Amino acid sequence: MELEVVRGDITEQEVDAIVNAANQSLLGGGGVDGAIHRAAGPELLEACRALGGCPTGDAKATPGFRLRAKWVIHAVGPRWREGAQGEPELLASCYRRSLEVADELGAESVAFPAISTGIYGFPAEPAARIAVGTIRAAPTRVRLVRLVAFDGETASLLEEALER
Ligand code: AR6
Repeated sequence: MELEVVRGDITEQEVDAIVNAANQSLLGGGGVDGAIHRAAGPELLEACRALGGCPTGDAKATPGFRLRAKWVIHAVGPRWREGAQGEPELLASCYRRSLEVADELGAESVAFPAISTGIYGFPAEPAARIAVGTIRAAPTRVRLVRLVAFDGETASLLEEALER
């Protein structure tokens, strides 16, 4: 599998599936979730409603509608609570489950945002290590995973994690 880091906007990625950093309701929100819903159009919310929510650490797919990506995989990251409530394991689970869902869809290329590191407050450095380590260890048929950093600091941390 090829694993790469790019700086940019996940809504513009030309991949089979993009991952959303959603919440348990799957009914939209701010950050990357808001951007994905705006770019995909109102059909995305209707498709999400039909999923009936999603537990933290899990992921569920919808079509991508007006996005270039064929699918959106909605993953629910943990809210950071001092790290004592299993947040690292829940974050790892998001990456693993997203790749399992990608395999079920037959997606060969998947782009991820830095799940939980915005509104949910997960520290960016351990989050980058967890993302890279979990993706590398995942048994998946996905051939390209692109980690999309919205800001320079996230891009640097992901690059460092890749070099380890
Ligand atoms: N493309 C790529 N990355 C982005 C984009 C974009 N267009 N916009 C923001 N990011 P966040 P969370 C980065 O807050 O922490 C929502 O309300 C951002 O800079 O989007 O998992 C949901 O509904 C950061 O690095 O997600 C949930 O309620 C990363 O994406 C809650 O926020 C994640 O930041 C989830 O919080």
